[in-house]
Amino acid sequence: MFQKIGSDVISRILDAVGFGALNLDRLYRVNKIAGKDEEAYITELNESCGGSAANTIIGLARLGLATGFLGKVASDREGDLLLENLKKEGVDLDGVIQSHHGRSGTVQGFVDTEGERALYVDPGVNDEITSQEIDLEYLSNTRLIHLTSFVGKTIQIQKELLDSIPSNVTVSTDPGMIYAQKGIKTMKKLLNRTDILLLNQKELELMTPHINQEHEKIKSLLDFGIKVIVVKQGEKGCMVTDGDESYFMEALNVECQDTTGAGDAFNSGFLFGYLRGKSIEKSAIIGNFVASCCVKEPGATSGLPSLSEIISVYSGEIK
Ligand SMILES: Nc1ncnc2c1ncn2[C@@H]1O[C@H](COP(=O)(O)OP(=O)(O)OP(=O)(O)O)[C@@H](O)[C@H]1O
Ligand SMILES: [Mg+2]
Repeated sequence: MFQKIGSDVISRILDAVGFGALNLDRLYRVNKIAGKDEEAYITELNESCGGSAANTIIGLARLGLATGFLGKVASDREGDLLLENLKKEGVDLDGVIQSHHGRSGTVQGFVDTEGERALYVDPGVNDEITSQEIDLEYLSNTRLIHLTSFVGKTIQIQKELLDSIPSNVTVSTDPGMIYAQKGIKTMKKLLNRTDILLLNQKELELMTPHINQEHEKIKSLLDFGIKVIVVKQGEKGCMVTDGDESYFMEALNVECQDTTGAGDAFNSGFLFGYLRGKSIEKSAIIGNFVASCCVKEPGATSGLPSLSEIISVYSGEIK
């Protein structure tokens, strides 16, 4: 879809733009996770493109939506790989800044023979985004902005930005552990402008530690003006509510191989349903389905389905 802006500038309207950290994930298999003054060895190394918002946006792109991304990488090998990967998935890159200085974000993960892991995040230039670098018009020409966390100060830019985007742009937020740990006070500004909040049970607890009852926890978040809340519950499924109606939707019974990115995949399916005008109940069904496709395959994006895969399972409900 195209829209005329001003006199003669033709600009594309996107369905969804992601705004979150872009990281190259390096997963090392090790004989053991070394403690202080200890030495261990690496048996295998796998690299993959990561970042929670990027995973969700790739999921939406696979489902045929027009997607874009706002983020920052450096002019290094990692940055080039991250850009190539998004481009290969058909994600618009006009909002991605490639800095001439610094390092691209990376996550070094160490996994031992028992599957225990230790993660080290190097945010690199993810933490150096300035408001001057952001093209507000890009963010005004999308139906939805999906926000995920940054480890450093870019949360301030996300907050500032929300003041400037038009009210008809839907904002979805997945706080992850990083933002949930900050607590409700730090998150207030983001929550005030969030329409759809997607979080897991642990994050719900972290954000509402002084409230005992589940429905009171949810209510305290709805009071920020949030329209829809989804609480993801791993292999059990999810709970979704708009304040009037609440549903618990069971996860699909599939052979789970790797849950990396399951939450991000769920978000793709849910937001796809929402953008297609489906009810919260149907959107949650699609979320569970997309997440089930993700956990059947290794990594965060290799199992993400195409639109035809969804239609073959839920034909009547999706069209
Ligand atoms: N073993 C499983 N079998 C089927 N579906 C699963 C399984 N584990 C997770 N899911 C699906 O993935 C969704 C999201 O998982 P989860 O609740 O772990 O989210 P999350 O904690 O945000 O994940 P992430 O660690 O990716 O951020 C669940 O709501 C469910 O639909
Ligand atoms: Mg999550």
